[in-house]
Amino acid sequence: MAESMKGLCRTHRCTEVSHDNIGQTVTVMGWVQKRRNLGSLIFIDLRDRSGLLQIVFDEPKVGSRGFAKAGTLRSEFVVAVTGTVERRAAAVNEHLKTGDIEVIATDLRILSESETPPFPIEENSQTKDELRLRYRYLDLRRPDLQRNLMMKSKVAMLLRNFMAQEGFLEIETPILTKSTPEGARDYLVPSRVHPGSFYALPQSPQLFKQLLMCSGYDRYFQIARCFRDEDLRADRQPEFTQADMELSFVDVDDVIDVNERLLQYVFREAVGVEVKLPIPRITWQEAMDRFGSDKPDTRFGMELVNVSEVVAGCGFAVFTGALEQGGSVRGINVKGQGAMPRKKIDKLVEFAKGYGAKGLAYLAVNEDGTYKSSFAKFMTEEELQSLAGQMQAEPGDLLLFAADKNKVVWDVLGALRLELARQLELIEKDQYHFLWVTDFPLLEWSEEENRFMAMHHPFTMPVEEDWDKIDSDPGSVRAKAYDIVLNGTELGGGSVRIHQNDIQEKMLQVLGFTKESAYEQFGFLLNAFQYGVPPHAGLAYGLDRMIMLMMQCESIRDVIAFPKVKDASCLMTDAPNVVDQKQLQELALTIAASEEETE
Ligand code: AMO
Ligand code: AMP
Repeated sequence: MAESMKGLCRTHRCTEVSHDNIGQTVTVMGWVQKRRNLGSLIFIDLRDRSGLLQIVFDEPKVGSRGFAKAGTLRSEFVVAVTGTVERRAAAVNEHLKTGDIEVIATDLRILSESETPPFPIEENSQTKDELRLRYRYLDLRRPDLQRNLMMKSKVAMLLRNFMAQEGFLEIETPILTKSTPEGARDYLVPSRVHPGSFYALPQSPQLFKQLLMCSGYDRYFQIARCFRDEDLRADRQPEFTQADMELSFVDVDDVIDVNERLLQYVFREAVGVEVKLPIPRITWQEAMDRFGSDKPDTRFGMELVNVSEVVAGCGFAVFTGALEQGGSVRGINVKGQGAMPRKKIDKLVEFAKGYGAKGLAYLAVNEDGTYKSSFAKFMTEEELQSLAGQMQAEPGDLLLFAADKNKVVWDVLGALRLELARQLELIEKDQYHFLWVTDFPLLEWSEEENRFMAMHHPFTMPVEEDWDKIDSDPGSVRAKAYDIVLNGTELGGGSVRIHQNDIQEKMLQVLGFTKESAYEQFGFLLNAFQYGVPPHAGLAYGLDRMIMLMMQCESIRDVIAFPKVKDASCLMTDAPNVVDQKQLQELALTIAASEEETE
């Protein structure tokens, strides 16, 4: 039978015991990692969230009852051990923090027994994700996940410290709220008191933090849970956490300044990484031109080169055709890969097609200076030479070109650049390349909706120089919006907000809102701005993504205690699930029969 804690008190976590404690009596508690019987001695590795400690049961020390009990221990039993710390007689383990000591038990209590777990609780588990997530409470015992969650807790604490020192107030905003126009689908919660009406879970605290500025709180901060019903990816979850801030009486540089110091402090204290300031800044236009991405990974080169001018008028119809359609021809130089086998190049072509390319043209410069190419026959020797020159090609290089609308060319070459870096192992681990991307376009054209959409959100301020183009040429207007990018991942983003009525009205008009529809959706914000609103700006980090990058995790799931899987369900609790008819009735809801049922 499981024993109680009566009279027992833990003195140390496992790895808090050190050679400083040699000769002392300690009481440790945790889970049995494994047991080994070695003749007259029984060894166990005891595990808690701090790590492992070796315990030795020797019959003369622990008594015959204690020794017999130790013989029944199995993996994942929960035990309390009191004993004396001694230097290890043999088998010193250099990989273990407590590798040169052990505890010679004088007393053992079995606090809880355990079934055999469905998978071994160990670092770098090879167990299938599905099984791990079904038994998430066991998965969470593994040291790698424990380290991630401990880091998340530490980073949250560091963020709070920093923000408090900088005069930010932590203020909560509602979870049951009204839809915020962040662009993803909302999660809705039906109201019982108002049948037929719904709350929306916040996609971010955006509108509330702007209202707090209106109310004079001047520097706001929150570690906020956000909800977005969007397709899941390796760095996306339907509920996630933002470190969210908003500041009054500031412009872009002020927000960037606070955040650079924040990043420097947090990365130094959390993972010992020294972020060099100032963090480089590039405009969105430059990011697209050089990297084909608005979140460039700058840990390696292979930048895009625009060769449109060089190939204009050449004999290759694929290139000239794209230019005539208003597109461009751009290339990347894959250094030293000129001898890449045809089969491998064909695979890259297929990869490019996955990103919307109609094809991918290649030109390999042989070591003797001759060319091997899919299009050389359409060009003169001079045209080929000037193209290779523009690409700074040397013998042995492989040049890849895409010709299409700019957006397609950027998408294709941007993705290809990352894929090649992965294949050719060009990225050194342990590098942290931060980058600000600024001056995003204010609007992007949606083919689906046949109208402009806000690239960030409808309250983002256009760049002053572009104000007079909002009506005449909305597509060319730049926004005072910025993203902070780390190693090719968007870590956070924000903007200066519109605080002038006339600009806000124009913006809403361009987005296709009527006055009525705008007031219906966020009239409370527009009204609030009638009563004296300070200029304000802000930014939000994806906290989960920050930890993911710090801990070099492959998946965002590894930094969230109880994550959802691809179809947004939780394998452990089986959420979402059906509810009682009675609950539905109270909410005045009926479930529409599915198509299959009505057939
Ligand atoms: P944005 O929509 O860019 O801005 O979100 C800010 C940051 O939140 C993280 N993030 C996510 N992390 C995990 N799963 C998701 N589904 C997910 N979606 C976003 C990203 C992103 O950079 N209100 C504005 C901020 C502002 O303007 O101040 C906002 O939410 O790391
Ligand atoms: P084609 O004349 O269609 O056989 O194409 C000749 C070469 O150009 C092939 O290597 C194609 O993969 C390539 N190609 C076709 N369309 C494009 C494009 N839009 N951009 C770059 N290369 C292309």
